[in-house]
Amino acid sequence: MTKIDLKGRDFLKLLDFSTEEILYMLDLAADLKDKKKKGIVHRYFEGKNIALIFEKTSTRTRCSFEVAGHDLGMGTTYLEPTGSQIGKKESIADTARVLASMYDGIEYRGYGQEIVEELAKYSKVPVWNGLTNEFHPTQMLADALTIREVFGRLKGIHLSYFGDARYNTADSLMVLGAKLGMHVALASDEAYFPDPELVKTCREIAEENGGSITLTTDPEEAARGAHVLYTDVWVSMGEPMEAWAERIGLMKKFQVNASLMSLAEPDAVFMHCLPAFHDQGTGIGREVYEKFGMKELEVTDEVFESPQSVVFQEAENRMHTIKAVIAATLGL
Ligand code: CP
Ligand code: NVA
Repeated sequence: MTKIDLKGRDFLKLLDFSTEEILYMLDLAADLKDKKKKGIVHRYFEGKNIALIFEKTSTRTRCSFEVAGHDLGMGTTYLEPTGSQIGKKESIADTARVLASMYDGIEYRGYGQEIVEELAKYSKVPVWNGLTNEFHPTQMLADALTIREVFGRLKGIHLSYFGDARYNTADSLMVLGAKLGMHVALASDEAYFPDPELVKTCREIAEENGGSITLTTDPEEAARGAHVLYTDVWVSMGEPMEAWAERIGLMKKFQVNASLMSLAEPDAVFMHCLPAFHDQGTGIGREVYEKFGMKELEVTDEVFESPQSVVFQEAENRMHTIKAVIAATLGL
């Protein structure tokens, strides 16, 4: 692995990184994963501290930052959605300057991408995007690492996404695929296609890297020949419960089920950033069932629990890849 110097860089969206830099972070993540599995101590940043701002809730991202930080020898402070002055009594710019004076890095999960960009502008230490409405870049590194572990390569992989294609996960997958020379198909209702400007940018990047971006309203067309079938929730964090009525009507034809999986490559895998509505095990899942009569939403339980599903490998890789982002930007 040839080291690429990323010291001091923010990690706000994958558009800011070259293909080589993304591949370097994946290699670093694989190395750190190997060390963790072998019990090789890697407390490279003993005595350093990181702040974790969450304006939206989280299981994977929060725990990944905490465990990764601790594995690297650092202290972590979790600021929960109601646990700080950010945005309410104190501006983003002031928060950035205060936290940067005490911490060595700042994670932010919340609403608009402009917030995390503003935080980075005023912070003298690296800022990491733990999800905004527009992008979810740490998720992308975990997804890429998982795909590489399964297929042994990234370039040329056909990844098809089904569902709400104008939000963080889908849009980030489009950027990831473009950077890594993958063939990304987004299957959705036209009203939920990504921003045309972003599609244009991604198509230009994809062309340079031998990949492609396709938008379609036909889920079967997207599933045919795919290596990866990927979906996300139909209603994202921060959207109102009222959104479900319209969303279910438009999205149900994009549900990932066994018949869709059967159109893909025989060795195709199912991926989901999680959390997922695949059964009646969640409060929202039950509420949606009572109102709309659908027991499984973006993915059926059969697919979610099938041997083709790599969702928990993908979830574990959140931690290893987030550790790589922290380590690389702090100068490992
Ligand atoms: N995939 C993901 O970001 O999960 P959390 O919302 O639990 O962090
Ligand atoms: N689109 C989802 C992703 C969760 C990881 C959301 O924003 O809620």
